[in-house]
Amino acid sequence: MERSPEPELMDGDEQALAYARADFEEPNSRFVEAYVARFGEPAGRMLDLGCGPADIPLRFARRSSAVAVTAADGARAMIDLAAQARDAEPALRHRVELVCRPLQALQLPEAGYDAVISNSLLHHLHEPMAFWAAVRRYARPGAAVLVMDLARPSSPEAAQGLVDTYAAGEPAVLRTDFYNSLHAAFTLAEVRGQLEAAGLGGLAAEAVSDRHWLVSGRVAAA
Ligand SMILES: C[S@@+](CC[C@H](N)C(=O)[O-])C[C@H]1O[C@@H](n2cnc3c(N)ncnc32)[C@H](O)[C@@H]1O
Repeated sequence: MERSPEPELMDGDEQALAYARADFEEPNSRFVEAYVARFGEPAGRMLDLGCGPADIPLRFARRSSAVAVTAADGARAMIDLAAQARDAEPALRHRVELVCRPLQALQLPEAGYDAVISNSLLHHLHEPMAFWAAVRRYARPGAAVLVMDLARPSSPEAAQGLVDTYAAGEPAVLRTDFYNSLHAAFTLAEVRGQLEAAGLGGLAAEAVSDRHWLVSGRVAAA
């Protein structure tokens, strides 16, 4: 089916709160495990693009005191929730920096990150190459990259089937978000094309579930 983009930022208070309260224990811990399996324990400076309520950056910071995460999102409602979650764990405060800024206007003081990660952001973007440009801009040569997102199914019926299978118990706002997100998502073939076009063809892109693809690898030296 054709892609239908959805609004980029999740900046409605109700939408952000529903998202922050949803149970992402299983996929988010799987994301961290996928990173460790490929790159070892997190260390150095990590950048999370589209961090939402910062559950994933907080998991990395909890796991390893050797990592400091810059977590960026364009939605003020999400960054406010991220700040609440981070501030509830004072020991992590100095290692999780929050930045409220759309990806396309991100101006971080330094590049050269040791790792760039992102979960469930790309499908929000109307112009996906802005995302890969940010990965290139902020990752140092040799940096670890781990990006996961939804894969667009072949039909609206297949999308509804995934919503019924995986989100039956979620609030209506999240079921609708999930359905729209599946329509907005990129296929694995499209992602591979984006990587080539961005000069990131050395990264591997693979299907990792019936609804997700994963991009991983190290950025080649320029
Ligand atoms: C589905 S949430 C994922 C949040 C988080 N990565 C996670 O896995 O829980 C997508 C996030 O991307 C953010 N986002 C969407 N478009 C963005 C943009 N252009 N710049 C920065 N953040 C954006 C949204 O505001 C939202 O918080």
